[in-house]
Amino acid sequence: MASPPLPESCDAVLLSEERIRERVTELGAALTRDYEGQELRLVTVLRGGLIFLADLARATDVPLQLDFMAVSPYAPGRGGVVRVTKDLDDDITDAAVVLVEDVIDTGLTVNYVLSLLRARRPRSLEVCALLDKDVRRIADVPIAHRGFRIPDRFVVGYGLDLKGRYRNLPYVATLREDALEVR
Ligand code: PRP
Repeated sequence: MASPPLPESCDAVLLSEERIRERVTELGAALTRDYEGQELRLVTVLRGGLIFLADLARATDVPLQLDFMAVSPYAPGRGGVVRVTKDLDDDITDAAVVLVEDVIDTGLTVNYVLSLLRARRPRSLEVCALLDKDVRRIADVPIAHRGFRIPDRFVVGYGLDLKGRYRNLPYVATLREDALEVR
């Protein structure tokens, strides 16, 4: 099936559907190797991580469970403190947990979520991020598995949005600068 055409507000495909599929397959194989003999808990922060999580879970060949949380965006100047608006459904004490993120930008969200999860005493806790916008980093994030390093551009697709739109694009595209101005 052909990929859908680029929306008018985007200027280029940064990561094609095929590159993403290949990389997600590799990341799933890495998780399969690392967690052989264990049951894995894949956790993501809604909503952006949902698409990546769905594909990553199917590329990973160990018994696993899925769980979800949601947080409000951090307010500037509050040191990355976010409010949990939906918590995990299950206890993660003693579980092998992988926090799956679509993109890590400043690192503030994931670091705060990691501190919340760590306090629940999982057996292990690692981060798997599809996109790493590392030039924007404020807080250091221990990324165990990374899909792609990307430049400091606003990207949409494969879970990432502009005002809630474009999450369903099967590729990752850069937004035109003028589309950003009306954000
Ligand atoms: C994105 C992403 C991370 C966060 C990363 O979520 O899913 O949670 O931003 O940014 P940071 O590294 O600067 O903290 P977003 O707030 O866009 O919400 P969404 O997942 O619902 O799209």
